[in-house]
Amino acid sequence: MTHCVLKRVYIHQLLRFLTKQEEIMFSRGVFVALSFMVTFLRTVSSCDYNCTYRPYFIPSRLVVKHGDSTSAACHLCSSCQDNKFMLEFPAGEDSRNGTVISWTSPKMTEWGRSVLCHYSITATDKMCCSELPVTVYKPPDSVSIGFANHSGQLYEARQYTLQCKVHNVGPVRYVKVTFYRGSTVLERLPAKNSVNEARENVTYTLNVNASKEDDGVQYRCEAKLELGSEGPQKPPMMTSQTITATVHYKPQRQDPTPPDQITVTQGDTLQMNCTAEGNPHPSYSWRFLPASLPLSNNSVLTIKSAAFAHQGNYTCSVSNGVGTLDVNFNVVVKANIIPYIAIATAVVLVVIVGGVVHWYRHSRRGQYNLRDVFHLNKPHIAVPTAE
Ligand SMILES: *[C@@H]1O[C@H](CO)[C@@H](O)[C@H](O)[C@H]1NC(C)=O
Ligand SMILES: *[C@@H]1O[C@H](CO)[C@@H](O)[C@H](O)[C@H]1NC(C)=O
Ligand SMILES: *[C@@H]1O[C@H](CO)[C@@H](O)[C@H](O)[C@H]1NC(C)=O
Ligand SMILES: *[C@@H]1O[C@H](CO)[C@@H](O)[C@H](O)[C@H]1NC(C)=O
Ligand SMILES: *[C@@H]1O[C@H](CO)[C@@H](O)[C@H](O)[C@H]1NC(C)=O
Ligand SMILES: *[C@@H]1O[C@H](CO)[C@@H](O)[C@H](O)[C@H]1NC(C)=O
Ligand SMILES: *[C@@H]1O[C@H](CO)[C@@H](O)[C@H](O)[C@H]1NC(C)=O
Ligand SMILES: *[C@@H]1O[C@H](CO)[C@@H](O)[C@H](O)[C@H]1NC(C)=O
Repeated sequence: MTHCVLKRVYIHQLLRFLTKQEEIMFSRGVFVALSFMVTFLRTVSSCDYNCTYRPYFIPSRLVVKHGDSTSAACHLCSSCQDNKFMLEFPAGEDSRNGTVISWTSPKMTEWGRSVLCHYSITATDKMCCSELPVTVYKPPDSVSIGFANHSGQLYEARQYTLQCKVHNVGPVRYVKVTFYRGSTVLERLPAKNSVNEARENVTYTLNVNASKEDDGVQYRCEAKLELGSEGPQKPPMMTSQTITATVHYKPQRQDPTPPDQITVTQGDTLQMNCTAEGNPHPSYSWRFLPASLPLSNNSVLTIKSAAFAHQGNYTCSVSNGVGTLDVNFNVVVKANIIPYIAIATAVVLVVIVGGVVHWYRHSRRGQYNLRDVFHLNKPHIAVPTAE
């Protein structure tokens, strides 16, 4: 770190020196080289960042949007001697007022630069130095989402890579990308560990496994520049367009598998439901063994009145170009015993009725006899009642 800063000091000084000396540089090449060497050696050997009374910056960190104006001030401690107190800065102007040197840049366009403030420590060849880090940032020009190396529909159970492209953003180490599936967060990616200070085009990726639940789902991504407390109150943020996934999947049945055997009573309605889900919508075809009957192309096969001829194995083939699903129904038709019960009941009834009639006739004859008996005895019965 210190080494870096020292190099920077050296570069700043060289640049400023060269700019000032531009016209006479060639005629005084040797002098330039010597001066430069002297400056370099002096700076490298003497900048002390751990000195007791360091100059300090207000603010202590600068975060500025690329192209914006910015300013800071370096303060010398009140007891410190104003000995070669000066500022080194990437661009702009400095102005001095007592123990304060202010720096302003009307348009900050340099990436990863810092401002250096120092003074000479009396009676030594050392300088007491402070550095102001300046973070120049650039919100993205655009953010776009798509599938990497893929266009068109997705297929279930395959893996795809979502790609979020962030254009012209920097520095990348402050960029955080979030992938969304509908309105829920799919993944928050940590910032990339990049040392590049300047703007870049960056791509963030996320692997996803397509499932049928993803059919019709919208994906988007969002890039946010999180620059810390010195950064803007509302972190710059940009959202991509949305893409809608189309997931193709082979037919599958929703409900638990149907009973492989269906028992139906002769004359009843036989219904086999083969309805399946798939994308694209599946088509149905029914096969029947042993007999070959003209069957429908519907998902539900209905036979109004089941007969013994309908007994057998039915296969429903559901297909949609992605795959085919065969569903088997083994139909058993059992005899309708209600007519037999009816006949048996009728027979029983006939027998009963016959018996009753026979008994009635027989009883009627008996009744006459009884009546005769009652008739004869009636007065006799009445007599005890009167008594
Ligand atoms: C400055 O002081 C810090 C501790 O305060 C120390 O870690 C660092 O090494 C010192 N740097 C130099 C150049 O002496
Ligand atoms: C210098 O700073 C003092 C206060 O510290 C202020 O009163 C004065 O106006 C400043 N001078 C200039 C030229 O800015
Ligand atoms: C896309 O394809 C290119 C070349 O065909 C390959 O270099 C790249 O790694 C692929 N990207 C992904 C995310 O698979
Ligand atoms: C980013 O990509 C655009 C084109 O898509 C290009 O014009 C621009 O120079 C790129 N920026 C960087 C920093 O590479
Ligand atoms: C996708 O499925 C594969 C196995 O089929 C698994 O290894 C991988 O972790 C899955 N990826 C995601 C993002 O779920
Ligand atoms: C067939 O089954 C599906 C579900 O698998 C159901 O939605 C549909 O109503 C059923 N149709 C009939 C006629 O029972
Ligand atoms: C079922 O569809 C096929 C073609 O998909 C057609 O040839 C056949 O006639 C259709 N059957 C019925 C009963 O509609
Ligand atoms: C129907 O299939 C079952 C086995 O799934 C088999 O035992 C039976 O014999 C088949 N019936 C006919 C009529 O093919």
